Amino acid sequence: QQFQPEATPLAGIRLMLTAGPTREPLDPVRFISNHSSGKMGFALARAAVALGAEVTLVSGPVSLATPDGVQRIDVESAAQMHAAVMAGIDRQQIFIACAAVADYRPKLVASQKIKKSSDTMVIELTKNPDIVADVAALPNKPFTVGFAAETRDVEKYARDKLSRKGLDMIAANDVAKAGQGFNADDNALTLFWPEGQIELPLAGKTELARSLITLIADKYHETH
Ligand code: CTP
Ligand code: CA
Repeated sequence: QQFQPEATPLAGIRLMLTAGPTREPLDPVRFISNHSSGKMGFALARAAVALGAEVTLVSGPVSLATPDGVQRIDVESAAQMHAAVMAGIDRQQIFIACAAVADYRPKLVASQKIKKSSDTMVIELTKNPDIVADVAALPNKPFTVGFAAETRDVEKYARDKLSRKGLDMIAANDVAKAGQGFNADDNALTLFWPEGQIELPLAGKTELARSLITLIADKYHETH
């Protein structure tokens, strides 16, 4: 029997991913964050390595082991994630934004623990930079793929993000559906690009990541 090497459509391709949540500090002991587990991003990193890519994973705080062969950069806040991505993006041919970046951060970060006082409390927030939009706006932009977590009108919002952020593809999931999306082991996605779309039915995140990376690799090669 002949040895069949695994297909390596991403051999020699440098691919950067963001994954996990971000933490936006309020004071030395508190932060604002979300329920992202990082599972989808880490599964995508593993799938990209399997297809031969040189993978850099910029990760928010998650409790997941670093996949073999992946260069991992740990960050906490959206500002740190933005800086880490921008520092390495020049060398990348593909960028996939899988992180659940906090849209806002506390405007003021107290240097000491905030003490309990009145019965109500207001925290003023300010907008974080949009990492994937900033990458897609670079003059030498890599092939850029975003995610969209939506609870309604999935296609409308996903296509709006695709064009508004200047992305090449966007993977949308309906987080209102039970058992998929944030912190779940299974997920279902619809992948949109300007001229088309494809459904990726409910599957384990490992299997889904393999399908998604294969489709991204196909589209990347079609356009480069
Ligand atoms: N994203 C990013 N930086 C941000 C916010 C989002 O890179 N500050 C990326 C996410 O990683 C994802 C895509 O943008 O790939 C879409 O994220 P999403 O939260 O769905 O979109 P938003 O533009 O933040 O819009 P909204 O939360 O209002 O739906
Ligand atoms: Ca958001």
